[in-house]
Amino acid sequence: MKDHSRQPIGVFDSGLGGLTVVKAMHHFLPSEDVVYFGDTARVPYGTKSKETIIRFSIENVKILLRHNVKMVVIACNSSSSYALLELKKRFAIPIVGVIEPGVQRAVAVTKNKRIGIIATPATINSGSYQTQIRKQAGRFNVTAQACPLFVPLVEAGWTDRQVTRLVAEEYLRKFKKNNIDSLILGCTHYPLLKTTLRKVLGPDVVLVDSAQQVVQAVKERLKQSRLTHHQKGRGSYRFLISDEPQHFLKSARRFLGFPLKSVERCDPQGL
Ligand code: DGL
Repeated sequence: MKDHSRQPIGVFDSGLGGLTVVKAMHHFLPSEDVVYFGDTARVPYGTKSKETIIRFSIENVKILLRHNVKMVVIACNSSSSYALLELKKRFAIPIVGVIEPGVQRAVAVTKNKRIGIIATPATINSGSYQTQIRKQAGRFNVTAQACPLFVPLVEAGWTDRQVTRLVAEEYLRKFKKNNIDSLILGCTHYPLLKTTLRKVLGPDVVLVDSAQQVVQAVKERLKQSRLTHHQKGRGSYRFLISDEPQHFLKSARRFLGFPLKSVERCDPQGL
């Protein structure tokens, strides 16, 4: 059988946010090579329809396959919610989304069985997190809230401003009322809001970071499929985006934790 373990892992997102997943991969899977595609020309996905998100997601996987990836990680929650099943049907390589791993963690950490979910309108409307919680844990008390203003606030770098805190207070009001003890950050951008979310919710609510959880799932999947790359040094990273690179290059550091040297531009519709 052919050994595919040396091939890179493909990661895609609607734009910048999926870099939070790459950051976790850099930490927990340091020897893997990674090809990242951010669909910056068509972001945001979180306000788009199911059909559109599926179509974009298929095109994104095709881009990654041209780079010979051994596995695809859907870093985007909106894509994972609507497109995971369709992508698994269409493509033969392993495909991992963020929903199931995020829920596994939330179900494991909650003590009072009251879980909150914050995400884009697409993810909340899809019911993906709610369905997965029911599947894994049965009848937990689940409170879900779409937070469409969070993505633009994070993109603007306003993660710790007064206005962001006020918006967070508005969005999180019902979670406080419902006494949740764990909150799923169901959007790639939200890990950057942890400080503000903690200030609003207090220290006792566990913030479940789907980006970190998915990397644990990827690690498991690589092992199961005998795809782990056992090279010594650090893996290499390649970044592709579909629009001009300036904003991406400027903002990437906040999401990744280290600066980006270069990005390449490619057109998902030009395949
Ligand atoms: N990546 C998206 C998600 O996790 C957030 C940004 C967008 O709306 O495209 O749902």
